[in-house]
Amino acid sequence: MGERAALITGGSGGIGYAIAERLGRSGYSLTISGRREEKLASAVERLAGEGFDVEGVVADLSKPEEAERLVEAHGERWGRMDCLVNNAGIGIGQPISEITDKFLDLQVAVNLKAMVILTRESFGMLQEAGGEHGKGLVVNLASVAGKAYPPWLSIYGATKAAVISFSHSSQKEFGDSGVQVTAICPGFVATDMTEFVQGEIAPEDMIRVEDLGEVVSFLLSTSPNCVVPEIVLNRPGGGPDSGGM
Ligand SMILES: NC(=O)c1ccc[n+]([C@@H]2O[C@H](COP(=O)([O-])OP(=O)(O)OC[C@H]3O[C@@H](n4cnc5c(N)ncnc54)[C@H](OP(=O)(O)O)[C@@H]3O)[C@@H](O)[C@H]2O)c1
Repeated sequence: MGERAALITGGSGGIGYAIAERLGRSGYSLTISGRREEKLASAVERLAGEGFDVEGVVADLSKPEEAERLVEAHGERWGRMDCLVNNAGIGIGQPISEITDKFLDLQVAVNLKAMVILTRESFGMLQEAGGEHGKGLVVNLASVAGKAYPPWLSIYGATKAAVISFSHSSQKEFGDSGVQVTAICPGFVATDMTEFVQGEIAPEDMIRVEDLGEVVSFLLSTSPNCVVPEIVLNRPGGGPDSGGM
């Protein structure tokens, strides 16, 4: 196995897969998780085909016990965690007058609650890694939606604002233990998640998944003395100030 290990939730597709691939190229052993078994197996096969050490764990992160089991499986497989990428997430658009309890609960469970549980369960392993080399890293996928207060995506935006807040709080709690926490806030990235808007904004005009891989690589390359609390990634002309994503 590599000298370092990373757990990437939602690593079976989109942004998570690109981050996993980038970390694999940096020599990390990888655990990737996903909800759908076949999609996960295919991602594992592709990453293994690139020569990376990779383990796939099916976990429905809307269920707290599966988030706990995921960290346990990662620990059993690699014995350490140097990087945790809380990436799995869902966005469901609904006008406020039509918000359903089901989709409210689902977004809170996957976007917020799972991130908290995964961080809690990984805390010890991350601190050990931080104590060893001063560069444990937690990356939380927030969104420009967490800063732009979008209509019709109010729950998604609220969960992502909470992701940003939790990232800052957890950085304070990790203190000088050698673990850093960064919330990444991208505008539209060309993935399955943005298919709903790809008729208006062409995927080739969106942020690329590889950009996110490079951002995580950058975060791992800064010195232990340099904490990066947040990174906002805008498309040209987009961003929270313009109201656009
Ligand atoms: N794309 C964008 O424009 C954009 C912008 C800002 C922030 N983000 C954030 O970036 C993250 C990744 O987004 P993406 O665009 O890569 O999305 P994506 O292509 O839809 O991939 C989402 C990943 O999360 C997993 N996932 C979804 N629900 C899950 C659940 N209940 N339990 C376990 N895993 C689950 C999916 O697995 P399955 O396919 O098996 O369900 C998949 O691997 C999300 O947190 C998203 O909010 C995305």
